[in-house]
Amino acid sequence: MMNPVEMGHSSRGVVASVEADPELRRLIAAAYGDETVTLERITRAIAAYERTLVRGNSAFDRFVFGGDKTALSEEAQRGLALFRGKANCALCHTIAADHALFTDQKFHNLGVGMDPAGNLIDQGRYAVTKREEDRGAFRTPSLRNIAETAPYMHDGSLKTLKEVVDFYVGGGNANPQLDPLIQPLTSFTRQERADLVAFLESLTGEPK
Ligand code: HEC
Repeated sequence: MMNPVEMGHSSRGVVASVEADPELRRLIAAAYGDETVTLERITRAIAAYERTLVRGNSAFDRFVFGGDKTALSEEAQRGLALFRGKANCALCHTIAADHALFTDQKFHNLGVGMDPAGNLIDQGRYAVTKREEDRGAFRTPSLRNIAETAPYMHDGSLKTLKEVVDFYVGGGNANPQLDPLIQPLTSFTRQERADLVAFLESLTGEPK
């Protein structure tokens, strides 16, 4: 809410606008026992709401965990093999034996968001930890429902899934903290790029 490139609000402003709304005050009282509006209560309420936005049973889930061998197209099946294999995506976008969050919950630098002079515009995790190795590092996002949430990366700099795949094939953007897991994908064919995109499109789930 306070990030200048997102809502750019002040913490006081957030509290004041919720306080000004009688219906929100009534709901705060119902949830927390009294009408006091605090940033903590607002944050917890939004988090509780977000936890209801559950989707599942994507084509990927039916294929991998449900044993439905018809759920994925041939193209998406090849994309899954690349994702887990020579494209190295699953090193960070994790697929476990019995579930898949598509994130290792860790922070990595891919070199996203550099200006033409090659400087990182957003310092990423470094802004919080001040550790040199965190410069330009962002938390691996899940890839569930990814086809519905363009544009991509923390700065929205990649407009389509094809652009994302091309970015990885090129090995990200060189910089001193580039994660060693990000390497150019050599001899990656046009068909293989399309296969990866088809796989990413299979991660769209159904509402619960
Ligand atoms: C070294 C770890 C790592 C590897 C390997 C990796 N990713 Fe990522 N991925 C990330 C991180 C971190 C981000 C967020 C970067 C940012 O916002 O600056 C990301 C972002 C993405 C996004 C955009 C998500 C969004 O919501 O904007 C997509 C799509 C994606 N990765 C797909 C892939 C594919 C496909 C591969 C394999 C070719 C791959 N990733 C390999 C760590 C990784």
